[in-house]
Amino acid sequence: MKVLLLLGFVAVALAEVTRFDGEKVFRLRPRTEEHVAIIKEMAEGMEVDFWNPESPDLVDVDSDVDIHVNAAYADIVDNLLQQSELPYEVLVDDLQDAVDAQMDSQEISPRSHNYMKYNTWEKIEAWISSMASANPSLISKQVIGTTFEGRSMTVLKIGKKSSSTKPAIFLDCGIHAREWISPAFCQWFVNEAVSTYGSDAEMTTLLDQMDVIVLPVFNIDGYVYTWTNNRMWRKTRSRRPGSSCVGADPNRNFDAGWCTTGASSNPCSDTYCGSKAESEVEVKAVADFIRQNRSIIKAYLTVHSYSQLLLFPYSYTYQLAEHHSELMSVAEGAAKALRSLYGTRYTSGPGATTIYPAAGGSDDWAYDLGVKYSYTFELRDTGRYGFLLPESQIKPTCEETMLAVKYIAAHVLKNL
Ligand code: ARG
Ligand code: ZN
Repeated sequence: MKVLLLLGFVAVALAEVTRFDGEKVFRLRPRTEEHVAIIKEMAEGMEVDFWNPESPDLVDVDSDVDIHVNAAYADIVDNLLQQSELPYEVLVDDLQDAVDAQMDSQEISPRSHNYMKYNTWEKIEAWISSMASANPSLISKQVIGTTFEGRSMTVLKIGKKSSSTKPAIFLDCGIHAREWISPAFCQWFVNEAVSTYGSDAEMTTLLDQMDVIVLPVFNIDGYVYTWTNNRMWRKTRSRRPGSSCVGADPNRNFDAGWCTTGASSNPCSDTYCGSKAESEVEVKAVADFIRQNRSIIKAYLTVHSYSQLLLFPYSYTYQLAEHHSELMSVAEGAAKALRSLYGTRYTSGPGATTIYPAAGGSDDWAYDLGVKYSYTFELRDTGRYGFLLPESQIKPTCEETMLAVKYIAAHVLKNL
């Protein structure tokens, strides 16, 4: 009887998982305003999941547009694109195959935590506790809030303990649920920090002089949902009366030109800005924490994927940031350091001109609060796998990204 009940539960849980059989990802290259109009019409007429940019209103002439469409629409889209002579290619022929292929790591880790695999929230949560208890002289943890579904948001503060207050760098990962390489990087960073402290001169100086405060998964509810229900989920999982659509885009929910551009006020959109700035409890928790620690936080780093970009303010306006030239040269130095390892090319610049204007982002908000060194990373790749970056790329991606983060940190330290 118990076994039957259990089987029943498993069947129900499995039935809810979204599969992507026969679904495709197209890369469109609109060359004319007419092409742009066709893409926008397409987005209205059928269900299109925008991978890059994240919403149809951000589509522009001569920019790549990656969209994921249902199996039922795949042929229609194909025909439509051919008829309208809109240049395109098929990036992913069968999305379910790509989902199945992302977990390709053959690495067996001698340790309990495997940094070369994507880890469930359950594993990451246990890892947060064990990292803190195993490294008491270097790591302390603090709960900064609770997610909509009631999960604890815990930051790890890494640095040599000191009696005086130290300046700090805030690093978060996993604002967007489906960008799995991002939380993998935060875990990698913490492990590198504790295992190279004392042997690597740069890391040692950094952690002696400063603290790095790491939030490994910002949008935990969304991340869990990408494991249990829908791999392509982006937003939070908040529910509100009056709409059956779930969640808001946490990176459109910060109080920086909130919902003025590149965001949607439609709760069903993937770039929904929320009912007001900081309506999402996760955003409020992070913003409160940074406000409280405003005097010590010297840099804000946030990690997304994909596109291989190093962005800095502004995104809510085309105006150049007050510290534009310094931010640009640090970004270029960081991108150069990153490239030195495996030749991976990054593009640097302000969000608005480098990709598209989009308000309500954490980087702009932190910058306007007074955190000068505010950067958004968009990690690998440029679209071959997109959000489904294979596990075999976790190691090289994290290794090269470490070089960029350390470059920025060294600059921050030098300019305290
Ligand atoms: N792809 C990221 C997003 O759309 C880029 C963030 C850049 N910063 C910003 N404030 N829009 O959320
Ligand atoms: Zn993102």
